[in-house]
Amino acid sequence: MKATAKAHTNIALIKYWGKRNDALILPTNNSLSVTLDGFYTETTVEYDKALTKDEFILDGQEITGVAYERVTEYLNLIRKYGQLGNLFARVNSTNAVPTAAGFASSASGFAALAAAATKAAKIEVSDVELSKLTRQGSGSACRSIYGGFVEWEKGNKEDGSDSYAVAIEPQEHWDIRVAAVVLNETEKEISSRVGMKRTVETSEFYDGWLSGIPADLTEIKAGIKEKDFNRVGAVAEANCLKMHATTLGAKPPFTYWTDATMRVMQTVQNLRKKDIPAYFTIDAGPNVKVLYQPENEAIVEQTLRETTDVSDVILSRVGAGISYL
Ligand code: ADP
Ligand code: DP6
Repeated sequence: MKATAKAHTNIALIKYWGKRNDALILPTNNSLSVTLDGFYTETTVEYDKALTKDEFILDGQEITGVAYERVTEYLNLIRKYGQLGNLFARVNSTNAVPTAAGFASSASGFAALAAAATKAAKIEVSDVELSKLTRQGSGSACRSIYGGFVEWEKGNKEDGSDSYAVAIEPQEHWDIRVAAVVLNETEKEISSRVGMKRTVETSEFYDGWLSGIPADLTEIKAGIKEKDFNRVGAVAEANCLKMHATTLGAKPPFTYWTDATMRVMQTVQNLRKKDIPAYFTIDAGPNVKVLYQPENEAIVEQTLRETTDVSDVILSRVGAGISYL
């Protein structure tokens, strides 16, 4: 009973930022992402009757503590779903993505874990069902089931049965690129989970965040359909700024940005002043992702690399959904 799955991370253009149910991971708003081929996780799950507890190896190291608990709790959910009883598993995972630094390692990590854990147990699941199961490991991970452009429908039901991701446009629809700008690969202080909870509970700006979502979604979906790069980039950048604004209104206030984050944001805005369309988006960490078009790859990469405190720039195309190895 063994299977290996590969999942890519995704970057949200309309952010998921806040839960209405912590246990089931049900969001307060729809979100929309693009799957990235440059960052991924490969995870092997092997159930073994000889084990007395789950084992989790990440990038060759045996993991204990919170990250282990998250994996074993997630496997409890799969065991319950598949009626596997007390069958423990050996989980061996490699991240081709920096862990816990705002590069969405949790998204590719939990999507690969959900896919490998169900496949190894021979549990037949549709993409929608796999997305719902994945969501319960990490919210943003439910979008990594599909390639291309993906929307997570928040759903309204209390049991979460209508909260899952759907594919909007396939990988081949549109060749846009994303540059991941690496500033700092150390683990962040406030995880997305903790940051969004504090914001929902205490930020004076949270209602403002929610009220702008429907218009942002309508705008970006039209832009993606028409392949209108400036339209998509502008709404993605504005949506990211609004998400980060909510953290400043939280009690106590916090921000994921550093001085280097803001320098990269300025670099991107300066590119636009030179008529090079590029737009940034930032998740729960200091690092920046930059959207650009293939014909501007060389100038965008060079300009980002020349920005002070940029340690690396990793270029990515639109990626594929889950695959089994
Ligand atoms: P990130 O920005 O990298 O997603 P988060 O703090 O949201 O940061 O999530 C990082 C956490 O996701 C890790 O601490 C770990 O618990 C989990 N994670 C990362 N990679 C994997 C993996 N390959 N398998 C299982 N869990 C993972
Ligand atoms: C800022 O999916 O990591 O990246 O559901 O608690 O695991 P949990 O949170 P997570 O949050 C991602 C937040 C974000 C925006 C996004 O990816 O939509």
